[in-house]
Amino acid sequence: SLVPVILAGGKGERFWPLSRKHRPKQFLSLDGSDRSLLQATADRLLSIAGGWENLWVITSAPIADGVREQLPHLPEANLLVEPEGRDTAPAVAWATLEVSKRHGKEVVIGFFPADHWIGDRAAFEKTLAAASQIAIAEASIVTLGIRPNQPSTGYGYIEQGEFKGSFEGLPVYLVSRFTEKPDRDTAESFISTGRFSWNSGMFIFRAGVVLEELHVHAPNIIEPLLKQGKEVYPQLEKKSIDYALMEKTQLAYVLPANFDWDDLGDWNAIERLLKGEGKNVALAKHVELDTKGAILYASDSNEAIVTIGIEDVVIVRDGNVTLIVDKNRTQEIKQVLKLLQGDP
Ligand code: GDD
Ligand code: MG
Repeated sequence: SLVPVILAGGKGERFWPLSRKHRPKQFLSLDGSDRSLLQATADRLLSIAGGWENLWVITSAPIADGVREQLPHLPEANLLVEPEGRDTAPAVAWATLEVSKRHGKEVVIGFFPADHWIGDRAAFEKTLAAASQIAIAEASIVTLGIRPNQPSTGYGYIEQGEFKGSFEGLPVYLVSRFTEKPDRDTAESFISTGRFSWNSGMFIFRAGVVLEELHVHAPNIIEPLLKQGKEVYPQLEKKSIDYALMEKTQLAYVLPANFDWDDLGDWNAIERLLKGEGKNVALAKHVELDTKGAILYASDSNEAIVTIGIEDVVIVRDGNVTLIVDKNRTQEIKQVLKLLQGDP
């Protein structure tokens, strides 16, 4: 069996103004359904966990109450609250320590981002069953590889190495190289070889394996946590697990994922999710003339958005804010937030 831990402390700034300081992306439903990304992630993992008492969430203090509200069945003892977010390396280190205190060092843990869409649940469960078997059989950190369809710079890239066998009918390979968020040219050269997949951001391993690897590759994170517990958090280096561990370890394995997956990274993901490529995608009343490829969202569904003669634009209405941005420049929302100072 596998103990799932949901990583739910990110800000999701590229979805501003829908995501705000106390209402980050994982609390939103982006597909018009009534379950938020966090709730959908928990729903998906619940049967794998075998119930709420075996599911964990790690988040940061400002949004912990939001998590409690969203997941009322989550036991308080399974909610790890970071005094402040220090990215995913400290989160993985601390959560692995806490889970192994309860279940021992041999326990298989899976880390899951709270901001993904996954299409085929049965295939997802089968992939995780295979990943757990690998984690038990080998001293490994199992990643799930996504087949890339463009040289995106927002992902980790995994180069497939030696074939290590089949689990649940799925082939698994050693990782010969892991490169987090390469630049465009590097991403293009990776893709042209045909040997690379995207890192899905999910990791499956035995607790003891990762604790030992952290001692080797990230002692500045694991050692203070072991000695002083979570009080030391604000002094820890802010670093993601991809840079702190995955780029360095020799124990990474990759299992090509055979389910539909999307990282709901920015507003363009809404279009993919709602299958509107080239058309207008409106989660609002939309009245238009000559409008192409617009993505529209109003948090009050009574609000109308009227457009004439525009193309490839994102328009979002939420409370006291209106965002209008070129579809190709949604990555820059992060920058504009710095200019806004505070959270209007
Ligand atoms: N508890 C906690 N604390 N969670 C955090 C923190 C933190 O300080 N920072 C981020 N998270 C959570 C986010 O909420 C998200 O669910 C997950 O950790 C991943 O963080 P992101 O910030 O979304 O990472 P990314 O998307 O840039 O990159 C990662 O995911 C990609 C796939 O979506 C990497 O693992 C890439 O290699 C990968 O390709
Ligand atoms: Mg992400």
